[in-house]
Amino acid sequence: MDGLDLLIADHNRFRGIFTRFQEAKDNEDVDEMGELADKLAFELKVHTDLEEKIFYPAVRKLDEEIAEVVDEGLQEHHVGDVLVEEASTLQPGEDEWVAKITVLIESVEHHIDEEEEELFPQVRTKSDAETRAEWGARMEAMKAEQGAPKPADAEKLSLDELKQLASEQQIANRSKMSREDLAAAVDAR
Ligand SMILES: [Fe+2]
Ligand SMILES: [Fe+2]
Repeated sequence: MDGLDLLIADHNRFRGIFTRFQEAKDNEDVDEMGELADKLAFELKVHTDLEEKIFYPAVRKLDEEIAEVVDEGLQEHHVGDVLVEEASTLQPGEDEWVAKITVLIESVEHHIDEEEEELFPQVRTKSDAETRAEWGARMEAMKAEQGAPKPADAEKLSLDELKQLASEQQIANRSKMSREDLAAAVDAR
Protein backbone atom coordinates (compact mmCIF):
# COMPACT_ATOMS: atom_id res chain seq x y z
CA MET A 1 0.00 0.00 0.00
CA ASP A 2 1.09 3.61 -0.61
CA GLY A 3 3.03 4.63 2.52
CA LEU A 4 1.32 8.02 2.79
CA ASP A 5 -2.12 6.39 2.61
CA LEU A 6 -1.06 3.92 5.29
CA LEU A 7 -0.02 6.76 7.64
CA ILE A 8 -3.31 8.59 6.95
CA ALA A 9 -5.23 5.38 7.74
CA ASP A 10 -3.43 5.25 11.11
CA HIS A 11 -4.37 8.90 11.75
CA ASN A 12 -8.03 8.15 11.04
CA ARG A 13 -7.93 5.20 13.46
CA PHE A 14 -6.41 7.52 16.12
CA ARG A 15 -9.20 10.05 15.51
CA GLY A 16 -11.65 7.19 16.18
CA ILE A 17 -9.91 6.48 19.49
CA PHE A 18 -10.15 10.21 20.39
CA THR A 19 -13.92 10.21 19.73
CA ARG A 20 -14.38 7.03 21.80
CA PHE A 21 -12.27 8.46 24.64
CA GLN A 22 -14.42 11.60 24.71
CA GLU A 23 -17.57 9.43 24.85
CA ALA A 24 -16.12 7.37 27.70
CA LYS A 25 -15.18 10.61 29.49
CA ASP A 26 -18.73 11.96 29.08
CA ASN A 27 -20.07 8.65 30.47
CA GLU A 28 -17.51 8.67 33.33
CA ASP A 29 -16.51 5.15 32.24
CA VAL A 30 -13.01 5.00 33.76
CA ASP A 31 -12.30 1.39 32.65
CA GLU A 32 -13.02 2.26 29.05
CA MET A 33 -10.97 5.46 29.31
CA GLY A 34 -8.03 3.47 30.68
CA GLU A 35 -8.25 0.84 27.92
CA LEU A 36 -8.44 3.47 25.19
CA ALA A 37 -5.52 5.41 26.66
CA ASP A 38 -3.41 2.21 26.71
CA LYS A 39 -4.38 1.44 23.14
CA LEU A 40 -3.49 4.98 22.09
CA ALA A 41 -0.12 4.88 23.86
CA PHE A 42 0.81 1.58 22.16
CA GLU A 43 -0.33 2.66 18.72
CA LEU A 44 1.35 6.05 18.96
CA LYS A 45 4.61 4.34 19.82
CA VAL A 46 4.40 2.12 16.73
CA HIS A 47 3.28 4.96 14.45
CA THR A 48 5.97 7.41 15.54
CA ASP A 49 8.51 4.60 15.20
CA LEU A 50 7.44 4.01 11.59
CA GLU A 51 7.76 7.71 10.88
CA GLU A 52 11.06 8.19 12.67
CA LYS A 53 12.78 5.07 11.31
CA ILE A 54 11.33 4.85 7.79
CA PHE A 55 9.29 7.85 6.64
CA TYR A 56 10.97 10.95 8.10
CA PRO A 57 14.55 9.97 7.11
CA ALA A 58 13.39 9.20 3.55
CA VAL A 59 11.46 12.45 3.02
CA ARG A 60 13.74 14.84 4.85
CA LYS A 61 16.19 14.47 1.95
CA LEU A 62 13.61 15.62 -0.61
CA ASP A 63 13.55 19.31 0.19
CA GLU A 64 14.64 21.90 2.76
CA GLU A 65 11.09 22.97 3.58
CA ILE A 66 10.11 19.34 4.16
CA ALA A 67 13.12 18.90 6.44
CA GLU A 68 11.91 21.81 8.55
CA VAL A 69 8.42 20.30 8.98
CA VAL A 70 10.02 16.95 9.84
CA ASP A 71 12.18 18.59 12.52
CA GLU A 72 9.08 20.12 14.10
CA GLY A 73 7.32 16.76 13.82
CA LEU A 74 10.11 15.08 15.80
CA GLN A 75 9.67 17.60 18.62
CA GLU A 76 5.90 17.02 18.60
CA HIS A 77 6.50 13.25 18.87
CA HIS A 78 8.74 14.02 21.84
CA VAL A 79 5.99 16.01 23.57
CA GLY A 80 3.65 13.04 23.06
CA ASP A 81 6.23 10.62 24.54
CA VAL A 82 6.63 12.79 27.64
CA LEU A 83 2.87 13.01 28.24
CA VAL A 84 2.42 9.24 27.79
CA GLU A 85 5.32 8.58 30.16
CA GLU A 86 3.97 10.96 32.82
CA ALA A 87 0.40 9.65 32.50
CA SER A 88 1.69 6.11 33.09
CA THR A 89 2.71 7.08 36.64
CA LEU A 90 -0.84 8.25 37.49
CA GLN A 91 -4.06 6.43 38.30
CA PRO A 92 -6.48 6.25 35.31
CA GLY A 93 -9.50 8.40 36.06
CA GLU A 94 -7.82 10.75 38.53
CA ASP A 95 -8.02 14.43 37.55
CA GLU A 96 -4.36 14.87 36.61
CA TRP A 97 -4.41 11.71 34.47
CA VAL A 98 -7.55 12.89 32.63
CA ALA A 99 -5.92 16.29 32.03
CA LYS A 100 -2.72 14.70 30.68
CA ILE A 101 -4.55 12.33 28.31
CA THR A 102 -6.79 15.18 27.14
CA VAL A 103 -3.76 17.35 26.35
CA LEU A 104 -2.03 14.36 24.70
CA ILE A 105 -5.05 13.92 22.43
CA GLU A 106 -5.17 17.64 21.59
CA SER A 107 -1.48 17.69 20.78
CA VAL A 108 -1.65 14.55 18.61
CA GLU A 109 -4.71 15.94 16.80
CA HIS A 110 -2.77 19.10 15.99
CA HIS A 111 0.28 17.08 14.91
CA ILE A 112 -1.55 14.70 12.56
CA ASP A 113 -3.55 17.55 11.01
CA GLU A 114 -0.29 19.37 10.36
CA GLU A 115 1.31 16.27 8.81
CA GLU A 116 -1.69 15.84 6.51
CA GLU A 117 -1.92 19.51 5.56
CA GLU A 118 1.70 20.67 5.43
CA LEU A 119 3.89 17.60 5.00
CA PHE A 120 2.10 14.85 3.06
CA PRO A 121 0.95 16.98 0.08
CA GLN A 122 4.53 18.22 -0.46
CA VAL A 123 5.89 14.70 -0.14
CA ARG A 124 3.32 13.39 -2.60
CA THR A 125 4.32 15.87 -5.30
CA LYS A 126 8.03 15.21 -4.75
CA SER A 127 7.96 11.37 -4.69
CA ASP A 128 6.80 8.65 -7.08
CA ALA A 129 4.24 5.91 -6.48
CA GLU A 130 6.86 3.16 -6.55
CA THR A 131 8.89 4.79 -3.78
CA ARG A 132 5.78 5.35 -1.65
CA ALA A 133 4.74 1.70 -2.11
CA GLU A 134 8.21 0.68 -0.95
CA TRP A 135 7.84 2.80 2.23
CA GLY A 136 4.40 1.23 2.73
CA ALA A 137 5.77 -2.32 2.48
CA ARG A 138 8.51 -1.56 5.03
CA MET A 139 6.00 0.05 7.38
CA GLU A 140 3.60 -2.92 7.13
CA ALA A 141 6.47 -5.29 7.95
CA MET A 142 7.34 -3.16 11.00
CA LYS A 143 3.70 -3.13 12.13
CA ALA A 144 3.63 -6.94 11.87
CA GLU A 145 6.82 -7.19 13.95
CA GLN A 146 5.34 -5.00 16.69
CA GLY A 147 1.89 -6.62 16.71
CA ALA A 148 0.09 -3.44 15.66
CA PRO A 149 -3.02 -3.29 13.42
CA LYS A 150 -2.09 -3.74 9.75
CA PRO A 151 -4.05 -4.02 6.49
CA ALA A 152 -3.45 -7.79 6.16
CA ASP A 153 -5.49 -8.40 9.37
CA ALA A 154 -8.61 -7.29 7.50
CA GLU A 155 -7.97 -9.30 4.31
CA LYS A 156 -10.71 -11.85 4.92
CA LEU A 157 -13.44 -9.36 5.88
CA SER A 158 -16.21 -8.47 3.43
CA LEU A 159 -16.83 -4.83 2.59
CA ASP A 160 -19.91 -4.83 4.83
CA GLU A 161 -17.91 -6.27 7.73
CA LEU A 162 -15.22 -3.64 7.21
CA LYS A 163 -17.80 -0.86 7.22
CA GLN A 164 -19.40 -2.26 10.36
CA LEU A 165 -16.04 -2.42 12.16
CA ALA A 166 -15.14 1.10 11.00
CA SER A 167 -18.42 2.38 12.39
CA GLU A 168 -17.94 0.60 15.76
CA GLN A 169 -14.40 1.99 15.99
CA GLN A 170 -15.59 5.49 14.94
CA ILE A 171 -12.91 5.62 12.22
CA ALA A 172 -12.76 9.21 10.96
CA ASN A 173 -13.56 9.91 7.29
CA ARG A 174 -14.81 6.32 6.84
CA SER A 175 -17.64 7.28 4.48
CA LYS A 176 -15.09 8.44 1.89
CA MET A 177 -12.83 5.38 2.13
CA SER A 178 -12.07 2.73 -0.47
CA ARG A 179 -11.92 -0.93 0.59
CA GLU A 180 -8.12 -0.66 0.80
CA ASP A 181 -8.27 2.43 3.02
CA LEU A 182 -10.89 0.84 5.30
CA ALA A 183 -8.77 -2.30 5.68
CA ALA A 184 -5.78 -0.16 6.69
CA ALA A 185 -7.77 2.05 9.06
CA VAL A 186 -9.67 -0.53 11.15
CA ASP A 187 -8.19 -2.61 13.92
CA ALA A 188 -9.13 -6.12 12.73
CA ARG A 189 -6.78 -8.07 15.02
FE1 LIG B 1 4.00 12.07 13.32
FE1 LIG C 1 1.66 10.58 11.61
